[in-house]
Amino acid sequence: MQIQKDNLPQPQKPSPPRLIVAITGASGAILGIRLLETLKSTSIETHLVLSESAPLTIKHETDWHVEDVLSLANVTYDFHDIGAAIASGSFGTTGMVIIPCSIKTLSAVANSYTDDLLSRAADVTLKEGRPLVLVVRETPYHPGHIRLMSNATLAGAVIFPPVPAYYIRPNSVDDIINNTVGRVLARLGIKTELYHEWQGLPVE
Ligand SMILES: Cc1cc2nc3c(=O)[nH]c(=O)nc-3n(C[C@H](O)[C@H](O)[C@H](O)COP(=O)(O)O)c2cc1C
Repeated sequence: MQIQKDNLPQPQKPSPPRLIVAITGASGAILGIRLLETLKSTSIETHLVLSESAPLTIKHETDWHVEDVLSLANVTYDFHDIGAAIASGSFGTTGMVIIPCSIKTLSAVANSYTDDLLSRAADVTLKEGRPLVLVVRETPYHPGHIRLMSNATLAGAVIFPPVPAYYIRPNSVDDIINNTVGRVLARLGIKTELYHEWQGLPVE
C-alpha cells in the first residue's frame, strides 16, 4: 500500500502564526532587518535570536542600532538561553528563517551541533517537520560548503542564497533587498507586497 503524504500527521500550526527569525554574522544583516520590518505590520508573531556576531555586521553594514533591530520583533531571546521556549518542539511555530545565514551556522545546522539557542531552534524546527529556510551568504563555495548545504537539505532545510533576480530590473539595492526578502517569505507561505509572481514575458 502506498502511503499518501496527506494521510500522515501534519505538524500543528500555532494561531496566530509564529515565525522564528535568526540573524547571524554573515554579510546581509539588512535582509533580516527588512524581513522583521515587513512582518511588523502583519499578524505574524516574530521570535528573534541574534548570533553573537550579528551585532558586528548590523553596526558595520547598516545605520541600525542593535536595540532598534531587537524592538522590531515580538519576542527576543539570548543566544545562549538554551532553556528558552523556542528550544523545545512543544512550543509550536510555523517555521524558522536564518537570514542571513553564515557558513558557521550552516555547519551547526547541517551537523545538529546545537551548542546555542539559534542552532538548537533550527534543529528543533527540522525534527518537528517545520519549514527551515537558510539564507546562506557566502561566495564562492568550496566543496565543504556544498556538502554542508547538501546535508542540511537532506535534513529538510531549504537553502536560499540571496541571489539577485535581474529580471525585475532593479533600480536600487533596496529593490534587490525587497525582492529577496519577499521571495523568502513567499517560500514560507507568507504573501507580501515585496514580491509579485512572474506573469510571463509581455507578448511582442
Ligand atoms: C563584515 C563581515 C562580513 C562577513 N560576511 C560573512 C559572510 O558573508 N558569510 C559568512 O559565512 N561569514 C561572514 N563573516 C564571518 C562571520 O561573521 C563569522 O564566521 C562568525 O563566526 C559567524 O558566526 P555566527 O554564525 O554565529 O554569526 C563576516 C564577518 C564580518 C565582520
